[in-house]
Amino acid sequence: MKPRKIKDRIYWMGSVDWDSRLFDSRIPLPVGTSYNAYLIEGSEKTVLLDTVDPPMADELMSQLEGVSRIDYVVSQHAEQDHSGTIPLVLEKYPDAKVISTPKAKGMLIDLLKLSDEIFITVDDGETLSLGDKTLKFIHAPWVHWPETMVTYLEEDKILFSCDFFGSHIATTDLFVTDEGRVYEAAKRYYAEILMPFRGVIKKNLEKLAPYDLEIIAPGHGQVFSNPKFILDAYRDWTLGAPRNTVVLPYVSMHKSTKLMVEHLVAALVEKGVRVELFNLAVTDIGKLAMALIDAATIVVGTPTVLAGPHPYAAYGTFLANALRPKAKFISIIGSYGWGGKTVETLAGMIPNLKVEIIEPVLCKGVPSEDTFNALDDLAVAIAQKHKENNFI
Ligand SMILES: Cc1cc2nc3c(=O)[nH]c(=O)nc-3n(C[C@H](O)[C@H](O)[C@H](O)COP(=O)(O)O)c2cc1C
Ligand SMILES: [Fe+2]
Ligand SMILES: [Fe+2]
Repeated sequence: MKPRKIKDRIYWMGSVDWDSRLFDSRIPLPVGTSYNAYLIEGSEKTVLLDTVDPPMADELMSQLEGVSRIDYVVSQHAEQDHSGTIPLVLEKYPDAKVISTPKAKGMLIDLLKLSDEIFITVDDGETLSLGDKTLKFIHAPWVHWPETMVTYLEEDKILFSCDFFGSHIATTDLFVTDEGRVYEAAKRYYAEILMPFRGVIKKNLEKLAPYDLEIIAPGHGQVFSNPKFILDAYRDWTLGAPRNTVVLPYVSMHKSTKLMVEHLVAALVEKGVRVELFNLAVTDIGKLAMALIDAATIVVGTPTVLAGPHPYAAYGTFLANALRPKAKFISIIGSYGWGGKTVETLAGMIPNLKVEIIEPVLCKGVPSEDTFNALDDLAVAIAQKHKENNFI
């Protein structure tokens, strides 16, 4: 695609990646993604803000064909999907300086083998005049790595935010056209990439509150001409109380655990508790991550396999621990044949979760009436906890 005008002398550049289906070798991309770079032409200086993932480099380089001079390359985030084409850009513009946070400088040297002399590091709040346009650099750690910053273009009231407020969407629409679609994609992005840093994100949102924002231009996905939409969503995901929902990731080989899961789901619904159910053998792990954003309770359903949880259940639990959702309660249900350490293993895998463990329900073989009664009790206990905490 050709460069696209956002405002006077401010252009989107970059690449729409329609084909990729996996990000960071881990994260499902149902509809691809985009890598957004931005060109800002001041009356005296020209800036390229971020670049693209190296496999997309040709597209950015051809967009730069008509650009005779770049004075600065701003690198907001050292991860290669934004920084990886900086070496090629510097080959074309050997006099350009790279502007980054001091921490990003070290990481860019580690990752791209750039030389020390080409850097200008900026402190939090520092400004750079491009003549009639002024960039203000705002350090914003942990969106998504410790070195990240965002950039505010003062005269045009545009916030360039890199991974912050990003979404994995491939489309030819430069600006958000369908807020529902973007909400889903941005929520998935937040869940998978930013949720682990919820505490710092809250601080970063507070830091941005005083700024008058007309446009937010992220590093992935579409540009927001209505920043309130995405800021409100982030406030809810980050600060909102857990909801009256049980997230129930499970796996079952011969249906015993599945029978338990089905019984528990029905019992919870009867008690007025919402359930989001994920069969880990077939689920889109991104959907599970999204459901974890606001669930009050997690119940893991797993048979015992080789003395511990089924590997898919271990993966689901590992992921939940890594994503640090705001859930307050957790339990485990499942079937076993002769014995093992399923509960101990799973309980030992969640040190990051600030959760109370509600008594697990395990059964030998196919569930019996006693098991179903125990699952009814578990549903009552969960509904009770949700009521006590005003989640219902
Ligand atoms: C590959 C495999 C390994 C198993 N390992 C164990 C084990 O170590 N300990 C145990 O109690 N049961 C073990 N079992 C038995 C299952 O836990 C038992 O059949 C259970 O009822 C299966 O639940 P499901 O119907 O939900 O798959 C194993 C079963 C399979 C297929
Ligand atoms: Fe990133
Ligand atoms: Fe990124």
